[in-house]
Amino acid sequence: MALSAVKPRTHTICRSTDPSNLVWYQVGENEKTITRPVVSDSMVPWSVDYRDYKPIKYTSPIVLKSPFWADPLQPNSDTRWNSVDKQIDRRSHLGLYAIAQGLPRNPVGRTGIEGRGLLGKWGPNHAADPIVTRWKLNPKGMVEINAKSKKPILQFVAVERKDTKEWAVPGGMCDPGEKISQTLKREFMEEALDSQNMNEKEREKYYNKLSDLFKNGTEIYRGYVDDPRNTDNAWMETIAVNFHDDNNLFGNLKLSAGDDAGKVCWMDIHSGLRLYASHSKFIHQVALLHNADW
Ligand code: BGC
Repeated sequence: MALSAVKPRTHTICRSTDPSNLVWYQVGENEKTITRPVVSDSMVPWSVDYRDYKPIKYTSPIVLKSPFWADPLQPNSDTRWNSVDKQIDRRSHLGLYAIAQGLPRNPVGRTGIEGRGLLGKWGPNHAADPIVTRWKLNPKGMVEINAKSKKPILQFVAVERKDTKEWAVPGGMCDPGEKISQTLKREFMEEALDSQNMNEKEREKYYNKLSDLFKNGTEIYRGYVDDPRNTDNAWMETIAVNFHDDNNLFGNLKLSAGDDAGKVCWMDIHSGLRLYASHSKFIHQVALLHNADW
């Protein structure tokens, strides 16, 4: 069942909240460093008048050089905002977003940066996050119980992102025209099974196997993500789905990091996890869903 998306009250990862803690915009090694100007909590909503607001204009050269996956420097005049536009889903899970001076407006509010930063699309940039879980077993093959909480311990397939070196769920961007169920499988295959280094036959074999494993998922989250790349005119949204492996089906898949992932592992779930963007929040939901240790 699809969840309904709730607009977050504010965002903090994609904003400098005070002058003693300026947030850098993550850019490639050889690019200049961009620091986000402070936008205090009360100035985030667009409904608050902020005449002195001076966002930095920034769209990464990587984006400007990538016509294949990125929109043009200025949106085409016939861009169909809030719709599916030539296979590109420009709808937001949060409902209709505003267009100001020809550009979409971040529905949660100001971020200190205008332009697209590292994001390819003006407006929403859609991702999908597969959260594959299993119970942790002890050497005797019994489910491991946390001594304090007396609850069973869950594990999930985690990847270390090459860009920020943070641990994360092996998710990724939806391709134009792609169904969410396809993105979930493709991203899991690319990042956790290194499918790009498989031959055609192997890839097909794994894809079919995964189709079985990914048949029954539980949607955990759908909506806006407080992602470090968000700007005033471009932002991330995702659908996170949990696939719980009660029958050790995933045990037979050899994990191998690929594409945007540098490392991959089965990671124990607990409240001390610090993950990329909103991923700890998703994992917490999964722990609650299974009544697991947190
Ligand atoms: C990542 C997803 C993440 C999304 C929003 C994408 O680049 O691959 O895992 O949920 O960004 O942060």
